[in-house]
Amino acid sequence: MIKRPRILRVSPSIRSLVAETTLTPNDFIAPMFVVEGKGQREEIQSMPNYYRVSLDILKKEVKELYSLGIKSVLLFIKCEDELKDNKGTEALNDKGLMQRAIQAVKEAQPEIVVMTDVALDPYSTFGHDGIVEGSEIVNDATVEVLAEMSVSHARAGADVVAPSDMMDGRILAIRKALEKGGYTKTGIMSYSAKYASCFYGPFRDALDSAPGFGDKKTYQMDVANRREAIKEAMMDVEEGADIVMVKPALAYLDIIRAVRYSVRVPVSAYQVSGEYAMIKAAAKAGWLNEEKAILETLMSIKRAGADLIATYFARDAVRLIS
Ligand code: PBG
Repeated sequence: MIKRPRILRVSPSIRSLVAETTLTPNDFIAPMFVVEGKGQREEIQSMPNYYRVSLDILKKEVKELYSLGIKSVLLFIKCEDELKDNKGTEALNDKGLMQRAIQAVKEAQPEIVVMTDVALDPYSTFGHDGIVEGSEIVNDATVEVLAEMSVSHARAGADVVAPSDMMDGRILAIRKALEKGGYTKTGIMSYSAKYASCFYGPFRDALDSAPGFGDKKTYQMDVANRREAIKEAMMDVEEGADIVMVKPALAYLDIIRAVRYSVRVPVSAYQVSGEYAMIKAAAKAGWLNEEKAILETLMSIKRAGADLIATYFARDAVRLIS
């Protein structure tokens, strides 16, 4: 025998010298769920130890995350039922919860990169990401609202808008609208390859945003497809996306890799609510070691080619790697 691969695994030191992938706090985007009120910190039932927070708590948490080394948050809001409609009216309200959340984060921690979810589902009486006509989710009218919504977020101080709706042509429309509004420093992180996945279930509980009829398969991608993910990502880059995203992450590592090879912009991956819930549930049952599962899954996502990872484990991961 002249080749002994185990030589490079013999001690922790040598393993760390030859490690091909490392995780750092700079890799993570921390999603935050925001609600109206004061002093609110409600645990999400299907996401143990993850919370919906009011603006005052949000400010504290963002400062804490930044002090731990996390450089970015991704904001989601829970819209009050009476403000929901079929046009996304509340999404365009410059004094809406999202807009106030952006301002609150910028006030508390100006250096942190504020990313915002751009989609109509939390604001929609139908729980769909676009305007509904009959049983159809209409594309072009929705895109107009998304572009206006993005400008409203930029006006409030968002650094990056993150359209998660999967309508056609929205990146170009958003980029044009931002330019027209003079928001030349606002970035776009496009959910380019967002699959029609069952793993968003707990998130929809968190925001009370489950579709009221049908599913999201006429706009989110078919789980069966990989070439289409490359097409979507390349189109978004041409339309002006600064970062492209693959979502979910763990069941789509091949997609992350394929997209990483196909574009010349940073690729992010979203370890979604269902991925979080699975690890939490198995750990609670004593069937998995939670800390190891967190690090192994995040390492796998990065190894597959993700430059950035949106994850509900951001805070835990930073603690575990330091
Ligand atoms: C809204 C949106 C969803 C997620 C992020 N943005 C839900 C959906 O598309 O139904 C899912 C995030 C998660 O599950 O963690 N368009």
